[in-house]
Amino acid sequence: MSTSQNQLVIDVTALTASGIGDAGPDAATLAMLAEPARRALDTTLDRRSRGEIGFLDLPDDRATARACMDYARNLDADIDTVVVLGIGGSSLGPRALYSALARPFDQLAPRSPGMPRRLFFPDNIDPVTFAALLDRVSLDKTLWNVVTKSGGTAETAAQLLVVMDRLEKHLGAERAKRHVVCTTDPAKGALRATAKARGLAAFDIPPNVGGRFSVLSPVGLLPAALAGLDVMGLLDGARRMRDRALVPDLAKNPALLLATLLHHHHLTRGRPIHVMMSYVDGLYDTADWFRQLWAESLGKEKATDGRTVNVGPTPVAARGATDQHSQLQLYAEGPDDKVFLMLGTKHRGVELTMPGGPLAESQAEYSYLAGRGMGELLDAELLGTTSSLIRRKRPVAQLALERVSAEAVGELLMLLEAATALAGPLYGVDPFDQPGVEEAKRLAFAALGRPGYEELRTEMDKAPGPDPAYVL
Ligand code: PA5
Repeated sequence: MSTSQNQLVIDVTALTASGIGDAGPDAATLAMLAEPARRALDTTLDRRSRGEIGFLDLPDDRATARACMDYARNLDADIDTVVVLGIGGSSLGPRALYSALARPFDQLAPRSPGMPRRLFFPDNIDPVTFAALLDRVSLDKTLWNVVTKSGGTAETAAQLLVVMDRLEKHLGAERAKRHVVCTTDPAKGALRATAKARGLAAFDIPPNVGGRFSVLSPVGLLPAALAGLDVMGLLDGARRMRDRALVPDLAKNPALLLATLLHHHHLTRGRPIHVMMSYVDGLYDTADWFRQLWAESLGKEKATDGRTVNVGPTPVAARGATDQHSQLQLYAEGPDDKVFLMLGTKHRGVELTMPGGPLAESQAEYSYLAGRGMGELLDAELLGTTSSLIRRKRPVAQLALERVSAEAVGELLMLLEAATALAGPLYGVDPFDQPGVEEAKRLAFAALGRPGYEELRTEMDKAPGPDPAYVL
């Protein structure tokens, strides 16, 4: 059931002087940052009012959410598996939702009627992985959701070509159609043309919503609905956060405050590495989704005073407690060039209590765990790591979900999307384009000999080859 209460607490004390003394900005510095922050918000709102930015309005589109739910409800009951074909923003968002909100390891459970459908996100085109997936799933019981905003991404096209061929051979052309649903631009691109020509079911990604900002469009909502997740709750949470992210007062706007502080720590205090460390397994994929959002939106080349400058923070995804035994030494004592965003939850919903009885021979060593919960231990580790970083004056933001519900996840995703959009003007870049990615795509086409890319291929061939002196 939907609540009107905020489900996410954003504590940025330890990004400021209140938490880390002279390692963070004091109130006077924050007052000076309010003006550029307000301009960043104005720029973003202007672009929204011109129709250039659509992600902020997705939480209001309940008709699309209902259409996704209707599609999922009316789908053939035999279909128990869904594979999302797509890459980058077309895969990371739905995977983040599924990991956060579906029951872990449900994919492994033997299928039985009434169970939620299981979802897979191959994302990549390593033939070893993809062939294994094709061999494992039953084509009669699988739906393939092809997701691509542009319609022309080589990896997604490759996945679709292989799948279509298998499906048509196995099911025949007519039945195969019922096993494919497309999510793409309403008018442009090869996938839209294919969907029309073949009469495939299709959902629209609004033209003004780009891949990495599309999780609340059918890109995320359709897989979420197919997995039986709470789609409306997700949008309720996102809407609540969206409204908070539009407040002009820096002190009351969590997205603007987060963007401003992360930008400040980067450019003024030399901390360009932003580590999102999740102490909830289900939210690790959200950290991975954020890694793409923050990197691809803000890592840009820009012209300043007639010079080309390269800007952008480096996001890192980490998992607690796992990475305490892998990265924490670096985080605590290595260079002070990082900001930490710790993800936790107040209620895990499941607890496993550690019994006192077994392993009697080591009772003295383990007695402190007896009767305590595994989640309690994980929370204590989150507290311990956070405190130790703060004691060393390393900046830490704490993001705590009341529980890992659809609403809380909706709030979190919108917080991070809005913070990214607002950080764009602070860095002086357009957070919604990705010219660097487009260039690599064109070079890959040229390498494959795609017609129309001959000139680029000639240029590539002129590039210096391997120098034997350095090839060992
Ligand atoms: O955020 C982006 O725009 C990219 O990461 C895209 O999502 C990715 O390149 C895939 O593009 P498309 O959805 O057009 O297939």
